Amino acid sequence: MTQPATDLSPSAREAIVEALNQSVAETAVTTMLAQNFHWNVTGMAFGPLHALFQEIYEDHFVAQDDLAERIKALDGHADGMLSGMLKRSKVSEHDGHADDKTMVAAMQAAQETLAATLAAAGALAAEHGDTLTEDLAIARGQTHEKFAWMLRAHLR
Ligand SMILES: [Fe+2]
Repeated sequence: MTQPATDLSPSAREAIVEALNQSVAETAVTTMLAQNFHWNVTGMAFGPLHALFQEIYEDHFVAQDDLAERIKALDGHADGMLSGMLKRSKVSEHDGHADDKTMVAAMQAAQETLAATLAAAGALAAEHGDTLTEDLAIARGQTHEKFAWMLRAHLR
């Protein structure tokens, strides 16, 4: 039988909470990145890119809440400070003056980074028998890989 999340050792809980805070931070930074690109994208592909960036930020806005509330279910602290998120995140902000291809490439890279972060969080949760965090992380990782593919397809 798998261990319920609430039975995690303090060190396992701390490690999983940190992995989730990393995930929240990168999801939040990417939410703003997508909104920045949604607002400022130009070119003949304006319509579909404006819509795709919106689909991304709407998905990510919901996801950052799901991830943060999983931290609370584990009795951890969800870091909601933008300054802390920017420090923690492996995804960086990007200038909204960029051309459309640069935006697509930057968003693809962000999605790939997120997919890797969520895969690592899922593996860590699995290691400690926290199947509920593992399930959430796997679902998020799959979504990020899907977005990465959709963006990559624009550049081929
Ligand atoms: Fe809009």
